[in-house]
Amino acid sequence: MDFTIRAATLEDCKDISRMILELAEYEKVPDQVKITQRDLEQDGFSKNPFFHGIIAEVPEHHKSREGHTKVGYSLYFYTYSSWKGRAVYMEDLYVMPEFRGKGIGKALMSKVSQLGLAAGCTQLNFTVLDWNKSSLDFYLKQGCWDVTSDLGYHCMRCEGDALEHLAQGDL
Ligand SMILES: CC(C)(COP(=O)(O)OP(=O)(O)OC[C@H]1O[C@@H](n2cnc3c(N)ncnc32)[C@H](O)[C@@H]1OP(=O)(O)O)[C@@H](O)C(=O)NCCC(=O)NCCS
Repeated sequence: MDFTIRAATLEDCKDISRMILELAEYEKVPDQVKITQRDLEQDGFSKNPFFHGIIAEVPEHHKSREGHTKVGYSLYFYTYSSWKGRAVYMEDLYVMPEFRGKGIGKALMSKVSQLGLAAGCTQLNFTVLDWNKSSLDFYLKQGCWDVTSDLGYHCMRCEGDALEHLAQGDL
């Protein structure tokens, strides 16, 4: 199947928002999505964007059952390792179910890698849920390794009231 991978634009935010929700539904946490199309437009497409995106698009004659031609996406941003220097973080990777197994996910991930290397990065980082065996297998097949099981790192987070308290120094 023909498809193209290209940089996301402001006009893609509606479809990115839709696919973010689809991915969250797949991950069984749709209620966790607080981001709106407008947030994406502001945070990704104004001066000093917080993230970048790429879109997988199919020609009109291959559109999805619901009429979508934007069928996959990845969001990424740049980070820094005090050991290894520049790094790229892949926040999301998603391909709509009816378009999986056609090389689109691999092409999206390859594009994020190319962009990262071009920006001088030496690492591509991302997380995957422990039960998401099929995606874990997909990543292992792409040559990635499991930092949690191999090095014992845990993902940590502070948010909401705890973040406010931390910021105010009154914990
Ligand atoms: C993970 C995902 C992005 C893969 O995209 P995809 O378009 O289906 O994958 P591709 O067709 O590009 O597959 C690329 C290669 O990985 C292999 N692969 C795909 N799924 C695999 C799996 N479950 N186990 C092992 N290998 C797999 C393919 O066989 C292919 O191998 P090849 O290059 O030797 O032919 C897609 O399945 C998806 O969106 N899943 C749901 C959302 C998700 O879990 N995202 C990741 C969140 S961390």
